[in-house]
Parts: sequence; C-alpha cells; structure tokens
Amino acid sequence: ASLCFAALTLLALAGFSEAVDRGKFKSCTHSGFCKRHRAQKEPTGYEVVADSISLNNTAVNAVLRSKEAGNKLKLSVVTMEDSTVRIHIDDESENPIKPRFQPVDVFDEGQPRQQKIKKHDQDENSITVMTKDGHKVVIFMIPFRIDIYSNNRIVASINSKELLKFEHYRRGRKPKKDGEGFWEEDFGESRDLKPWVS
Ligand SMILES: *[C@@H]1O[C@H](CO)[C@@H](O)[C@H](O)[C@H]1NC(C)=O
Repeated sequence: ASLCFAALTLLALAGFSEAVDRGKFKSCTHSGFCKRHRAQKEPTGYEVVADSISLNNTAVNAVLRSKEAGNKLKLSVVTMEDSTVRIHIDDESENPIKPRFQPVDVFDEGQPRQQKIKKHDQDENSITVMTKDGHKVVIFMIPFRIDIYSNNRIVASINSKELLKFEHYRRGRKPKKDGEGFWEEDFGESRDLKPWVS
C-alpha cells in the first residue's frame, strides 16, 4: 500500500509541475526598463565632479555627472560598523519629483551604525579611505569607479565596465526618445502605470 501511495504522490507532483504556466512570470523581455539597461553596451561616461567631494567622519559625499546622461547624481560612500560599505546613488535634486523608495524597515534594530574613517588620502584622480578594521575604498573620479579592498585584496569593483545607467524621474513625454514601456507597460491582464517614468 505504501508503494502505491508513493507512486500516486509522484504522479501528483508531476502533474503539478506541468500546470505551472510560465507565461504568468515576468522575464526581462517583458520589461522595458530591464531591456534598456541590459542593452547598454557603450560607457555612459559618469565622472565625479572634482570640487564636489566632501568628507565627514564616516563617509565620502560627492556629485556624479555624465555628458551623455545630462542630469547629475549624488553619491555617498559610507563605511559601516559591521565591516560593510554602503554606496548610495540618487537624483541630485534637493526637491525631487518624488522621493525614491528606501527599504529602511528591513533593519529591525534601526539603521546600521556607521564606522569612523581611520585615514584618507586624495590625489588628482582618486580618493582613498581606510577603515580601522583593515578595509580600503578607492573612488576614482574619471571615469567613475569604486574599488573595495579587504586586507589589500580587491573584493569588489563597482562600475568597472562604465555602464552605470540611471533613469531620472521626470514629467513630460518624449515619445520618440523614450522607447517602449517607459510610461506604461502591459503584462498579461494587468497594466503598470508609471507616472514618473521607468
Ligand atoms: C556623513 O555623511 C553620511 C552620508 O551622507 C551621513 O549619513 C552621515 O549622517 C554624515 N555624518 C555626519 C556627522 O554628518
């Protein structure tokens, strides 16, 4: 009897997996945003605006700009107590059309604590900060790139292919330029409206 039961269970499972309708799951080809970002093959030309760099106890703050993309972005690179680095890039505007969503409630004990920078160094094209727990973050200005070292071994390089792409919120359509799925997008039965783009 138990063999028969096992066979039945298997059959039931097989039946279930066939019933999954792949068409109900969104993939990159269904999202204009995803397609636009994956299609980016040429460097986007972001650089750190030299006189925008400022340091405080725990962070480097600066402005990024790209001739190609037009608008400016604000960058903050913050060293954290738990030996991580937080890199934050957002619209530069003090009064954005709409503040971007920030998942602050994922930290159930409040915001993680920032770690004091031990030492910093700046030359013509880069700024380096060192933390007391042996990490080093190098921010290159032209082109913009961030390399992160742990005990002198590189562990991450951000924007090394120079493909940083950022879509600003805006009002006003440019139908010829905006491309597919910029302001609204359909998937199956549902329509996704994007009043501020992307
Ligand atoms: C230093 O800058 C970081 C990142 O912008 C910010 O979160 C932090 O509050 C600043 N610290 C002080 C003391 O202003």
